[in-house]
Amino acid sequence: MHTGDTAKLLVQGVTKSYRDGRRTLDVLRPIDFTVNNGEFVTMIGPSGCGKSTLFNIIAGVDEPSAGQITLDGELGTIRAGKSGYMPQQPLLLPWRTVEENVMLGLDVRHVPRKQALAQAHELLKRFGLAEFARSYPATLSGGMRQRVALLRTVSFNASFLLLDEPFGALDALTRISLHMWLLDLWQSLHASVLFITHDVREAILLSDRIYVLSARPAQIVRIVEVDLPRPRRQEHLALEQSIKLEQELIALLMKEQAL
Ligand SMILES: Nc1ncnc2c1ncn2[C@@H]1O[C@H](COP(=O)(O)OP(=O)(O)O)[C@@H](O)[C@H]1O
Ligand SMILES: [Mg+2]
Repeated sequence: MHTGDTAKLLVQGVTKSYRDGRRTLDVLRPIDFTVNNGEFVTMIGPSGCGKSTLFNIIAGVDEPSAGQITLDGELGTIRAGKSGYMPQQPLLLPWRTVEENVMLGLDVRHVPRKQALAQAHELLKRFGLAEFARSYPATLSGGMRQRVALLRTVSFNASFLLLDEPFGALDALTRISLHMWLLDLWQSLHASVLFITHDVREAILLSDRIYVLSARPAQIVRIVEVDLPRPRRQEHLALEQSIKLEQELIALLMKEQAL
């Protein structure tokens, strides 16, 4: 549903510290932010600042040291299954075909095999990968593998996607085609997306809102509402307002990186 005014995710006062013997590593200072239903929200911040840690906490893989996370209006500690989480290094299972990899989220939810296969096929067809259904991951290009990993993420949960630098390792042209592919996926599934990148242009092109994180321990240092038309097109990056925003965000991140 594209309601737009209700929160999909509410993060309030979340902090994280890791203890290593007698030393404590502070990774997240109190973090507050919202992802509304149907929004595309991006976190951008210097490497090592705590972005993946924050995602692990939201996905329920890790626990915060303090603070609250509300998903779909439900406050709770059981968050597994309430998001589709694509970690920074998504591993496709090499012994499974593309369709069997995409089925994984359905397998985990004990959807009967026949039905799971049909659903996986539907996804593959809808998003242009039907011809690769029986291929093995090793035979695919890097861009294709990321598409398969994204559809597998959707099979875990299609309404809320947590995507941790999904395009970080791809070449520039492949990235451009995946940006458009992801925006199409997001719009046609009416999903809410929380996205991590350290690429400023990617953040501007994709997002409704950008949260800029400081160096570790991370805190939000800037909130930007991206006022560009939808559907987005590559050319929107050439608009004066985009170029200005790009320069501003780069300056902010350079300052953080230097600290
Ligand atoms: N399980 C853990 N135990 C101890 N330190 C961790 C753990 N996970 C992450 N860290 C530390 O937290 C910091 C932030 O890591 P991470 O969230 O991966 O950063 P980012 O994704 O922004 O690059 C790093 O210094 C990392 O070494
Ligand atoms: Mg990371």
